[in-house]
Amino acid sequence: MKLFANLLLFGCLHLASTDMPMRKSLLFPLETDTSYVELIPQRNLSMTSFTLCMRLATELATGNREIILFAYRTQNYDELNVWRESNGTYSLYLATSNVNNAVVFKLPELNAFQTHLCLTWESQFGLTAFYVDGRRSLRKVYNVGHKVTAGGRVILGQDADAFLGKFDKKQSFVGEITDVNMWNYVLPTAIIKDLHAGKYAPRGNVFDWETINMKVNGNASVICDRSVV
Ligand SMILES: *[C@@H]1O[C@H](CO)[C@@H](O)[C@H](O)[C@H]1NC(C)=O
Ligand SMILES: *[C@@H]1O[C@H](CO)[C@@H](O)[C@H](O)[C@H]1NC(C)=O
Ligand SMILES: *[C@@H]1O[C@H](CO)[C@@H](O)[C@H](O)[C@H]1NC(C)=O
Repeated sequence: MKLFANLLLFGCLHLASTDMPMRKSLLFPLETDTSYVELIPQRNLSMTSFTLCMRLATELATGNREIILFAYRTQNYDELNVWRESNGTYSLYLATSNVNNAVVFKLPELNAFQTHLCLTWESQFGLTAFYVDGRRSLRKVYNVGHKVTAGGRVILGQDADAFLGKFDKKQSFVGEITDVNMWNYVLPTAIIKDLHAGKYAPRGNVFDWETINMKVNGNASVICDRSVV
């Protein structure tokens, strides 16, 4: 199953070079504590600022279901985690698992249709913002002077309470994720609007969805869609 999924991924990349491009999505079909996708970065995640974007569709974002949206775990910390909290807020955790140390935003809920979700953070002033379908939220101040540390692993689908382990299915992601891109700098709002609209924008230099390497585990799989560009 794992091998098959990996082969599918390369199938997308191969077909992408023909005249009918293929786009890939990750599908997490079931609530499990075993399905996840590890993303292999192009460079280490030692960063004093970043932009993270992805398109997400899920039916879980109702009631008090926690949902992990992105998890970068180093040996001892949740280094950079993004959540839908049990009260329906959306949060960023930098080098902490303590909810009191997260920065929390009230955003429109994710739903069965794709939402383009981005977030930006920079160390100098701690300015943090979420973007939903190209629109920027208010900015909040979070973790001035902090630096994101290298040496961890990035996974989608599960939150690890230990280094790549101790998953909780009641925090897992179920649905589709695509267009995961990350930059080690803050993109301007106009560029994030362009990304949402599918227009040309600088390719991610930490994760570039066009060329990303991934390891697919459990029931997660890669779907290839023909796209008209
Ligand atoms: C991370 O990458 C930067 C730039 O490529 C490099 O200077 C730094 O030494 C790396 N850090 C670690 C911990 O690997
Ligand atoms: C929602 O939960 C988060 C995390 O527990 C908390 O920080 C925040 O204050 C809560 N927000 C509301 C509006 O209840
Ligand atoms: C999920 O994975 C388990 C274990 O490999 C397998 O038995 C099951 O059929 C899978 N379910 C789906 C829907 O792919």
